[in-house]
Amino acid sequence: MCGIIARVGNGDSVDTLLTGLENLEYRGYDSAGVAVQNGHGIKIHKQSGRVEDLATDLRERQPKGNVGIGHTRWSTHGPPTDENAHPHSTSTTNVAVVHNGVIENYDTLREELQAKGREFTSDTDTEVIPHLMEEYLEETGDSETAFRKAVEELEGSYAVAALVDDEDVVYAARQGSPLVLGQDEEAGEYFLASDVPAFLEYTDEVAFLEDGDVVIARPDDLTVTDLEGNVVEREIERVDWDPEETGKGRYDHFMLKEIDTQPTALSNTIDGRIDPVEGTVDLEDFPDGIFEDVREVQLVACGTSYHAALYGAQSLKQAGVRAEVHRANEYELSSGPIDEQTLVIAVTQSGETADTLGALRRAQDKGASTVTVTNVVGSTAAREADEALFIRAGPEIGVAATKTFSSQAVALSLLAHRLTEDVPDADTRDDVTEYLSALHELPDGISEILDRHKAEELSRKYRDSDAYFFIGRGMANSVAKEGALKFKEITYEHAEGFASGELKHGPLALVTQDTPVFAIFTGDEEQDKKTRKNAEEAQARGAPLVAVAPEGHEAASIADEHLVVPDTHPVWAGLLANVQLQLVSYYAADQLSRPIDKPRNLAKSVTVE
Ligand code: G6P
Repeated sequence: MCGIIARVGNGDSVDTLLTGLENLEYRGYDSAGVAVQNGHGIKIHKQSGRVEDLATDLRERQPKGNVGIGHTRWSTHGPPTDENAHPHSTSTTNVAVVHNGVIENYDTLREELQAKGREFTSDTDTEVIPHLMEEYLEETGDSETAFRKAVEELEGSYAVAALVDDEDVVYAARQGSPLVLGQDEEAGEYFLASDVPAFLEYTDEVAFLEDGDVVIARPDDLTVTDLEGNVVEREIERVDWDPEETGKGRYDHFMLKEIDTQPTALSNTIDGRIDPVEGTVDLEDFPDGIFEDVREVQLVACGTSYHAALYGAQSLKQAGVRAEVHRANEYELSSGPIDEQTLVIAVTQSGETADTLGALRRAQDKGASTVTVTNVVGSTAAREADEALFIRAGPEIGVAATKTFSSQAVALSLLAHRLTEDVPDADTRDDVTEYLSALHELPDGISEILDRHKAEELSRKYRDSDAYFFIGRGMANSVAKEGALKFKEITYEHAEGFASGELKHGPLALVTQDTPVFAIFTGDEEQDKKTRKNAEEAQARGAPLVAVAPEGHEAASIADEHLVVPDTHPVWAGLLANVQLQLVSYYAADQLSRPIDKPRNLAKSVTVE
């Protein structure tokens, strides 16, 4: 986890580093720091707390330097203290290092370095890197060699950037953790960061670095090599993300902005991919026949992406395709047999989640074909999977995923549709025109909810509840789970999502008049009848009932509250219900004054297992 940034160029780096860290804060936010090089030694400023605290501090001190590195931390080794904050250095401050990842052999390295008399001041694994560099610097007298030799000793994962005293240069390397290069050649300015939004305000020219890459960046000069020092070429691409997308604009929180921009995000997801009139789905990299050898589909994912995978898998199951959804962190134990007729779909917004990448690699080792459904072009998952389907939702900064859930669920449903066209004996839809027309209108349905919801009022009404339950069947079950995850992530209140029928097998013991139950109805009569019965069982125990259901739905007549789902095909109704639930979570958290975009202990992209 953690976010790193480095900037070299002519002119001061401090503001650029702070902007970069603000844009990377979704990756971790328990401490932050920068180091700059200005011809009078390396100056390090770091502390526990948010980037804004660091920025206030730096404004007073006004350090300057045209070459600098920065870090925002999500603790893995050691608590969030000033000492454990990055950049890390040695007693001489000859070098300064920021790191994202986990150095697995740090214990051994630390013992060896301590035996040589080196003193450590933090609990972090990272601190071995500046010490190693300094050792090699003393031995070889050459900082580039010292950096390479230090990096060669590291086992585990890292994206690392380093400064050396009195040198206008940033050394950086990547192995298993994301590192992106940004360049503005005209200005002679280069950036290295964990993710593109860090420097999107300054340039849209990026290169996605690869494992084993080493970067030597100076103002007006850049070299990328492999670990041995052979020069490698990395293609510069233009990203089409709008820098405005990385700002909050008129919103108090990224989360609300991202909920509100779902109609656009979803339109981008489906743009050019569906033809409701012809009843066809066209996914650019998935030509006819590509899936004809597939006999089983396994979807692997974590968190919100797992719920989107559950949603998408329903379409496959309904079409008679064997499909299983696995939590990526359990995949090693849960996958069962995998062979070349297995298609493994890794669902990951960031494309960098370590658990999901682990599952993807396991699938590849076993000979499965692989696809990733991801938001991030150039991400590790996009590069490692055989094929990538991009959800095109635009950057998502709020830690709690919102627009990317909707876009993932839709992209997966389209992928499922393509699969059923190829997989032998799968049933293709006989209502394809209605299904695709309803999808075409889904962005409008979301706009309708955004224009006239009562989430704020409803969350105030239930504000003092003991716990919040969410129930649904099939696709609505995945939405119930997602609704509960969102609610607990940002309100810190107890929330659980269940299959409707499961409530009576245990959770009902927790139901009282202080536990509102949100029941999701999709307009599928048969399924809704069952959910209604289960909702009534909770109601009979005194629970307030909130029906998230189509207009005029019979469940509304028995419910205490009705959150309206605009008219659509039952397959998509869950996604509209989900928007209602996102809004309820948001306003509930807002009333509790929670730090909505950065909930405690969480990070958006978890790059450790
Ligand atoms: C973290 C985040 C979740 C996210 C999950 C998977 O746990 O806090 O919001 O859903 O990672 O992330 P991914 O990028 O793989 O979708």
